[in-house]
Amino acid sequence: MRRKLLIGNWKMNSSLAANTILLNGIKAGAGKTGCEMAVCVPAPYFAQCQAELTGSNIAWGAQDVSTHDIGPYTGEISVAMLRDFGCRYAIVGHSERRMNHGETDQVVAEKARRAIVNGITPVVCVGETLAQREAGKTAEVVGQQLDAVLSAIEPDDLWNIVIAYEPVWAIGTGKTASPQIAQEVHAILRAKLSARNSAAASGIPILYGGSLRPDNAREILQMHDIDGCLVGGASLNASDFLAIAAAAS
Ligand code: 13P
Repeated sequence: MRRKLLIGNWKMNSSLAANTILLNGIKAGAGKTGCEMAVCVPAPYFAQCQAELTGSNIAWGAQDVSTHDIGPYTGEISVAMLRDFGCRYAIVGHSERRMNHGETDQVVAEKARRAIVNGITPVVCVGETLAQREAGKTAEVVGQQLDAVLSAIEPDDLWNIVIAYEPVWAIGTGKTASPQIAQEVHAILRAKLSARNSAAASGIPILYGGSLRPDNAREILQMHDIDGCLVGGASLNASDFLAIAAAAS
């Protein structure tokens, strides 16, 4: 049995005051769900998460990380800085970063490598656009995105990685991939991971993300290769996030 993992991606939302309500709400219900939970928050809130979540069973992390260790990189945040604030995870290669910040597969791969080498678990996002899906290119696109990461890391690094399949057309649109479509892609991803390190691959959480809500999470999460979710909008509401956690467990 693979562990179930639910990660909230707050994106550029919330505030100090709203975070307190949200984190307390999640903490209050976390014990009742049988899945691991984490929140990936804007960097200014790492310290708040560390203060509020230390000692709870909820982890926290970043939404991105620099490809550099230190130096003249204005605005960037290093993996060591994430560690200073107890972050366990760093999302890398979210489609919003690939599209809005021109992140290539190679940049994403380097971010994932650097996170792993420094003891942070990367949550590597892959996913196709609607045009790519309609052109029958889904397997090729997600395959290339994952291959870039796999060639930058060692097979043993697969013991410390999370993959998230987020079809771009399902993010924030209200359109979720059907359970069958998602399972098909997850199985492709797991086969690729398995070819690199089969022992590790059978335990790697492959999360689904894209317009998940309490009312559609359960059917997606029932699929064999779907081990949890990466949730955007619904992670900003404690009761929705907990309801998805309950569906995952
Ligand atoms: P939504 O759940 O808001 O569609 O966002 C998904 C996502 O991008 C999570 O990383």
